[in-house]
Amino acid sequence: MSCYEITGGCPLSGSLAVHGAKNSVLPILAACLLVPGQCVLHNVPNLSDVSATLDILRLLGCRADREGDTVTVDASALSRSDIPEHLMREMRSSVIFLGALLARLGRAELSYPGGCELGPRPIDLHLSALRALGAAILEEQGALVCEGGRLQGRELCLSIPSVGATENAMLAACGCPGLTTIIGAAQEPEIVDLQEFLRAAGVQVSGAGTPAVFVRGGTPLRPAEYRVMGDRIAAATYLCGAAAATGEVEITGVNPDTLTAVLVCLEEAGCTLHTGPDRMVLACSAPLKGIAPVRTAPYPGFPTDAQAILMAALAGGEGATLFVENIFDSRYRHVDELRRMGADIQLAGRAAMVSGVGRLHGAAVRSTDLRGGAALVVAALGAEGTTQVSELHHIRRGYQELDRNLRALGADIREIP
Ligand code: EPZ
Repeated sequence: MSCYEITGGCPLSGSLAVHGAKNSVLPILAACLLVPGQCVLHNVPNLSDVSATLDILRLLGCRADREGDTVTVDASALSRSDIPEHLMREMRSSVIFLGALLARLGRAELSYPGGCELGPRPIDLHLSALRALGAAILEEQGALVCEGGRLQGRELCLSIPSVGATENAMLAACGCPGLTTIIGAAQEPEIVDLQEFLRAAGVQVSGAGTPAVFVRGGTPLRPAEYRVMGDRIAAATYLCGAAAATGEVEITGVNPDTLTAVLVCLEEAGCTLHTGPDRMVLACSAPLKGIAPVRTAPYPGFPTDAQAILMAALAGGEGATLFVENIFDSRYRHVDELRRMGADIQLAGRAAMVSGVGRLHGAAVRSTDLRGGAALVVAALGAEGTTQVSELHHIRRGYQELDRNLRALGADIREIP
C-alpha cells in the first residue's frame, strides 16, 4: 500500500486551477440517464468515485467515454435498471441513480447503500420523496425494488435539507407529468449546477439554491453539453493547506461565493484573502489564531466537508476553536490521527475543542475517510518533520493528483510505495 510522505515547513506559493466538483458531477452523470442521446460534460475530475459512476452507467447499457476532462455519456441504449450490490458498496452515493432510473425506465433495483465512515447514512427522505411522486418501493432483505408506473408531479416536503434527497427528487420529477414542488430543498451550489444541466437538457426547472425547487416534468429531454462547476471543497483544502504551511497561493476555477463560510473563518484566523469571479488568493505568514465557534450547517452555513480540513489547519496554530458537527453523527475519526501529530483536541459528543499547540509534529497516520485524509495532508504541510499518510484510496475518491498539485505549489510531498 503506498502512502504520501510529507515534510512540513515549506511555504506554499503559486497558482492552481482546481478540478471539477465531485459532488456536482455525480448527480449530473446520473441525470444523463434521463437523456435518450449523447451528453457531453466538461471539467469532469478524474476521481475514483467518478470512475465507479461511469462503470455503473456502462453496466446499465450506456456508452461512457472519457477524453481528458471531457466525458461523453450516451444513454440511448439504456437497458438495465438494477445496480449490483458490489457497485453499491463501492459507492453509497449511487443511490442518486434511483430517481433517474425511475423517471426514464419506470423501475429501479439497488441494494440498500450501507453506512460509511461518517456513520449511518439513512435514505428515508429519498424514499419518502419518491413514494410521494407515486413510486412503489419494496424494501426486502437489504434490497430496494422500485416501480414507478404512475409517477405524477406534486408538492413534497423534505424534513431535512438533504442534498441527495433533493437531487433524487429533482431527477424523479423529470419523469413526472405536471409540476413538482420540492419544499425544504437543500441549497448547495451543486444543486444549482444540477439545475443548470437539466435546463440545458430542456427541463423546465427553477428555484435551485433556494428552499423551494420547481420541476415541470413528463417531457422528453434532449442531448446537452455542460461544464461542471469547480470543486469548492477541494479549493478549501488547498487554501487550508496554504494557511497551515504559510505562503501565498492563488486558487482558480471556483466561485468564491460558494465557500464564503470557509473564507470568513480563514480571514478571522489571520489570513489575507483577495477574491475575483472565479479566483481566490490567500496569504498567510503567521501561525493561525483561534476563531469563533465553527458550527457545520446546511448551505450557506459552514460545510461539513470542510470541518476536518479547517480543524487540521487550526490544530497547528495558536489559540482555541470550538467545532460543532451538526450534519453527520460520526465525523471526528480524523481526531485520533491528528492527536498522533501532537494535536490537542477534546471531544464531547458533537463538539470538539481544538487548542492550537503552536506547531504539530510529523507522524505515521492513516486516512479514515475522504476529508479526514485530506485533513491529515493539510496538517502535515505545517508540521515539524515528516509525516506518512496511508490509506490513500480514501483521498483518491475526491482529490485529483493532490500530491502533484501540492508539489507544484512548493510542498515537499511524494507518494512512496
Ligand atoms: C452529500 O451527501 C455529499 N455527497 C456529502 O459529501 C456532504 O457531506 C453532504 O451532502 C452534506 O453536504 C455527495 O454529494 C455525493 P445529506 P448526502 O443527505 O446527500 C441525513 C464528501 O465528503 N439524512 O445532505 O448523503 C444524513 O444522515 C461527501 O464529499 C437522513 O436522515 O448528505 C445527514 O445527517 C461526504 N435521511 C444529513 O441528512 C436521508 O434520507 C445530511 O445528509 C438523507 C439524509
